[in-house]
Amino acid sequence: MGSCWSSRVKAESPLHHGAASSSCRKDGNNSGDLSSRVSWVPQTPRTEGEILQSSNLKSFSFNVLTVATRNFRPDSVLGEGGFGCVFKGWIDEQTFVAAKPGTGLVIAVKRLNTEGIQGHKEWLAEINYLGQLYHPNLVRLIGYCLEDEHRLLVYEFMPRGSLENHLFRRSSYHHPLPWKIRLRVALGSAKGLAFLHSDRAKVIYRDFKTSNILLDSNYDAKLSDFGLAKDGPAAGKSHVSTRVMGTYGYAAPEYMATGHLTARSDVYSFGVVLLEMICGKRVMDKNRPSGEQNLIEWAKPFLASKRKIFHIMDARIQGQYSLAGALKAASIAIKCLSPEPKARPLMHDVVTALEQLNESEERFGATAGQPNLGRDSSAASKYRRRSANDIYIGKSLASYPRPVHAPVVHAPVVHA
Ligand SMILES: Nc1ncnc2c1ncn2[C@@H]1O[C@H](COP(=O)(O)OP(=O)(O)O)[C@@H](O)[C@H]1O
Ligand SMILES: [Mg+2]
Repeated sequence: MGSCWSSRVKAESPLHHGAASSSCRKDGNNSGDLSSRVSWVPQTPRTEGEILQSSNLKSFSFNVLTVATRNFRPDSVLGEGGFGCVFKGWIDEQTFVAAKPGTGLVIAVKRLNTEGIQGHKEWLAEINYLGQLYHPNLVRLIGYCLEDEHRLLVYEFMPRGSLENHLFRRSSYHHPLPWKIRLRVALGSAKGLAFLHSDRAKVIYRDFKTSNILLDSNYDAKLSDFGLAKDGPAAGKSHVSTRVMGTYGYAAPEYMATGHLTARSDVYSFGVVLLEMICGKRVMDKNRPSGEQNLIEWAKPFLASKRKIFHIMDARIQGQYSLAGALKAASIAIKCLSPEPKARPLMHDVVTALEQLNESEERFGATAGQPNLGRDSSAASKYRRRSANDIYIGKSLASYPRPVHAPVVHAPVVHA
């Protein structure tokens, strides 16, 4: 049987940095309810039994998922994060038994590394939130498996994989994502966050980054990976006090410094991802020349300038955007990246700004490039996808050099 080994573990404790360490060894579309709804979101901690009972999720046996993924075949690995590997599989839509490959419902099965005991908490957090939150921009969780030491999660399959792969992976299957698609992904993921922050959900996502944004066949964005999500502050409180967790580069500076978590921390992370989409560059990259390794520090002086903005725009999408559109996208990113949390916009306002930007660039971009929508997604799935660049804030911290500008994290670090 296949197994996926990772030296990283997601858990509640201080932040994690990028630079993944794990590897999957050889042996080893449903767009959600259009009417966003939340049945009930707990503001008080619940027991594992309560969480599992109250969710509308299917409980799978380990055997069914083993057959559905053809024994967790290495060539069906869709991606890898801090939790473990994600495998493609097939089940019968009515009976939920394993189906022959290519028939029935396509699923993505996330399998917790069994050596990572801390992962149980994140596994339960995903069930707690995704078992109750429904929105077109959140991935749908179909079920879970809890059997002996096995912890798995079963999601709808997202045929286009992660935004990370589309933005940063260089392969014949990953063409540069066109500007219009980037804006659509920005809008979709902003709507997902805005929903989480709304009074209906009151959730802080805490791990917004390109590898956690998945794309369906139309390149509509859905947030996945709720392992670090937290209930927002209780009434009358300004923040939630937590151990610092997340991913270096994406975590807001005040959260890194104090552990005080607010929805504005997610807004900062959104600004980071928007900047990555504008520039086509990772927020942290030790392979870039010194002075350019930290995207935010490098790009900031160019972002608000009509003359200089072209220097930082992704060269692969030249000609697809208007100057006004590029400047508008940059101005949204600058506001989200404001060091002062209160100066950052609410996600609701970001959605409004991105809707306007999508419309204006739609009018401009009659000649903008189109993605190869006919591309064979099964061919794309031949590629293993993992967030090899993330440096988790957590126990793997010592293994990796700290990014140039990353604040020192004093608390014990874990990661997601
Ligand atoms: N539902 C899905 N459909 C397709 N690919 C997926 C799906 N869920 C995850 N993946 C792939 O697996 C990677 C890791 O998934 P993620 O949920 O972020 O795991 P982790 O909790 O370990 O970080 C993603 O970046 C993506 O490439
Ligand atoms: Mg992830």
